[in-house]
Order: sequence, then C-alpha cells, then structure tokens
Amino acid sequence: MEFSVKSGSPEKQRSACIVVGVFEPRRLTSVAEQLDIISEGYISNLLRRGDLEGQAGQMLLLHHVPNVLSERVLLVGCGKERELDERQYKQIIAKTIKTLNETGAMEAVSFLTDLHVKGRDTYWKIRQAVEATQDALYTFLQLKTKKGELRRPIRKIIFNVPTRRELPIGERALAHGLAVATGMKTAKDVANMPPNICNPAYLLEQAELLEKNYQNLHVSSVNETQMAELGMNSYLAVGRGSANESIMTIMEHKGGPVDQAPIVLVGKGLTFDSGGISIKPGEAMDEMKYDMGGAAGVLGTMHAICELNLPINIVGILAGCENMPDANAYRPGDILTTMSGQTVEVLNTDAEGRLVLCDALTYVERFDPELVVDVATLTGACVIALGKYASGVMSNHNPLAHELLNASEQSGDKAWRLPLWDEYQEQIESPFADMANIGGRPAGTITAACFLSRFTRKYNWAHMDIAGTAWQSGKNKGATGRPVPLLSQFLMTRAGLTTED
Ligand code: BES
Ligand code: MN
Ligand code: ZN
Repeated sequence: MEFSVKSGSPEKQRSACIVVGVFEPRRLTSVAEQLDIISEGYISNLLRRGDLEGQAGQMLLLHHVPNVLSERVLLVGCGKERELDERQYKQIIAKTIKTLNETGAMEAVSFLTDLHVKGRDTYWKIRQAVEATQDALYTFLQLKTKKGELRRPIRKIIFNVPTRRELPIGERALAHGLAVATGMKTAKDVANMPPNICNPAYLLEQAELLEKNYQNLHVSSVNETQMAELGMNSYLAVGRGSANESIMTIMEHKGGPVDQAPIVLVGKGLTFDSGGISIKPGEAMDEMKYDMGGAAGVLGTMHAICELNLPINIVGILAGCENMPDANAYRPGDILTTMSGQTVEVLNTDAEGRLVLCDALTYVERFDPELVVDVATLTGACVIALGKYASGVMSNHNPLAHELLNASEQSGDKAWRLPLWDEYQEQIESPFADMANIGGRPAGTITAACFLSRFTRKYNWAHMDIAGTAWQSGKNKGATGRPVPLLSQFLMTRAGLTTED
C-alpha cells in the first residue's frame, strides 16, 4: 500500500473515491457538508430518506454524485460526534479500508483524518490510520495454494491534513506509522508460520534476512554446544526433548556511539510448547506455535527501529527453543543449575518459558545494558487477569515501568502494571533447590516474573507478559503484531524522535 498526505478541499479532489464522515444522527461533517453544497443537497437528501443514520462503522458508497469530481464518495458513519474516541477512530479506519478494498476503487482520498478525536493531534491520527490500515489488510496466504486475491485491491491512500502547515507533521506520521506497520507485519508473518517450518533455526534465518537489508544490524547466534560451554543448562534442558536444536539469536543495531550502553530486548521464542512431560491437553494446542510471540515481537521491533535507523544502540535476543516430550526430555523433579549458578527444581515442565529466559537474561549481562525488557507469552494466568486487551508489565525499576506505560498510552498498544512485591517470592521456594519453577495458582503471572527477577538483579529490567495479546483465537485466529507498537514507541522516545523537527 502506498500512502501520502495532502491538504485540499473535498470538492477539488479528482480521485477514484473520496472518503468522508457522517455523525449520528444524520449529521454531516464539515467535509461532507461541502460536498452536499456543491451537489445541491444530494447527500442530505439521501440521509433524510434514511439511507445512513451515521452509526459508527456504517458505510454507504455513492457513485456519480452531481458536480463532484471524484468517481465515488464513501460516506462513513462515525457515531455521535462527542463520543468519537481512539478505539472508535481505529475501528472506523479498519472498517473503511475493508470496504474500500471491495469497491474497485484503487485509490482513495480520506478525510477521516479531519475528524476530531479527543486529546489527539494530526500526527497521532495519521500514524494510527497507517497502522490500522496495514493491520486490517494483513493476510497470511503463503501456505494456501489458492490465494483468492482481489481483482482490484486498494493500492493508494491519500490522507488529508486540515492545513498546509501540517503537511510536514503528516509526512512524519506516515514514515513512523509505516515503520511500525512494517515491524508488525514481520512479527505476524513469523508468528503465524507453523511450527514444522518455524523452528529456532528459522528465527535465526529471519534475523539474517533483515541483516542483509540494514547496514547497522549485526546478527550472531549461540547454538547448543556454545550454550553448554556457557553453562546455560536451564535453557538447554527445555530443548532437550526436541529434534530441533535450541538457538539463541542475537541482533545488534548499532545506531549510537560505540561506548553507549545498549537497550536490550529479550523475546521468549518457544516455536512450539507442547508442555513437555507435563503435557498440555489437546484442545487448542496448535496455538502453542505462538509461544514464540515474544521473539516475534522483538524481531518485528528490530525491523521497525532499523527502518527508522534510530540513533541508539539496541540489542534484540530471540530465545529460540522447542518444548517436547521425549525419552531425552527434562522431567518434573529434575534440578537444573542455571547460567547464574542458582539452582531450580522443575515441578512442571510446562513452566518452560522462565527456564529459557532466565539463562538468556543472565547471558545479556555481557552487554552491560542500559536496561533490559523481556517479552514473553509466559502465563495463561495473564490471560485470565487482563484478557486479550492488555499486556502485563512488571518491573524492578519504577521509572522504567512508567516509561513503558507511557509508550503504551501513546501507541495505543495497551499494557497494565502488576506488582512484584517480595511477598510473592515465597511461593517459589523449594526444599531442595534455590527455587522452584512454579508458584501455584494464585498470582501466576506475578510469581513467573518473581522467578525472572532473581536473574535480573544486575540491571534495570521490565517484563512484559503478552500471553493474552500476541495472538487472537477463534474465527480471526492469528498473530496481532503486538507489542511491536509499544516497544517501537518506547525506543523512538528513548532515541529522542519527536512528532516534528
Ligand atoms: N506458553 C505457556 C503460557 C500460555 C498458555 C500462554 C496459554 C498463552 C496461552 C507457558 O509456557 C505455560 O505453559 N505456562 C503455564 C505455567 C504453569 C505450569 C505454572 C500456564 O500458564 O499454565
Ligand atoms: Mn508451557
Ligand atoms: Zn510456553
């Protein structure tokens, strides 16, 4: 999809389609009003006859509106004017793009960016429009033999900005939105890829593909032999039942001064989590191909920040591994010595993510990081706590937690903080080892983070549990590309990128 911005009045547009809003009940936006005037009341007549009430998401496609230069006019219901919020704005954009895709118009000029969204400026509206558009048009068809492609899909969208003065801001919003959308697509593609194709080696290959395209990106990896030398016995134990070798991929974006401490992102990359010997029930087990959603999010974020060529140093770790039952698999009762030297009693082989992450989190000490954020589809309990709407954030450093929540607020990629109080640490005590790998049912998301916190004492750290947000189940099953928007925003802010300059 091609995007551009321009500033102009609706009656002067000569396009395949022009998109304008109508509020409920039957109230024209000022842009629709201008079209109504030149068409001598054509639009208001239709509304009066009851063709469009203006409820959010309603669509009415008109052809040959008198005196209008564009071939089509798409009227879009925007709900009650005073109730138009961020969520509704994004839903309207998504619905509009799906409708446009079916009209035959291959180009459209959208005036939806003129709508007033509470507390949001032109930059935000255009950036969100780009991200929501690309999100809505996403398909994963690589493995279908019949692609069912549209004959005349929409190819180009021109967003209107209210004044010429705002054109540079619009351009910037486009560039930023496109970078984030590109990262989200990368994350979705790799997450949707089935586990017989997407294994730890595949994650490495995807990182290497990016390395070819970006000068500042350097990719390396740690294989099982090297992990053994490093003492990453916990990580290795999880992968021991799998025929696919565990591989930790390291992506280094060197955008800042050589001596600048990097920001490190660590993604849980379980390309399939069967549960291992503590095997999962069969229902929806296919969805455990998404247990590499953290790694996908890190890969996608690295793609976005490479596109923006952020002037800071950033390291992305994809902790690739597969958890399978096997004669050689690790078992409940095993006691593992982690890379940190601390020992762990395995009580459930399905609590494997933390066992992989703890060694990856020790490994990254070598980067002398400015801070570390790990992202992981870590606990079913997080889905129970926050549902599919918000990722869970936990941190050993308040300012970092606040920075992430601010990035969440700005990007619209929702997140919510949970506490990491010492009280919860008791739940993972073990009579035989330094800790157990599970802490019982109460506060399962927090006790998982408590486990990780014992490996992150040397730096400022935050953990994001994305079990509920990384993919959707049901009829729209698929990866969401989250938390790429949040992480990208966090890094953009860190790099000092603003909405104008
Ligand atoms: N990958 C799962 C967590 C998960 C489950 C994410 C369902 C999304 C949907 C993780 O490895 C896991 O199995 N966690 C267990 C931990 C338990 C054994 C303490 C869980 O949440 O049930
Ligand atoms: Mn598991
Ligand atoms: Zn898992």
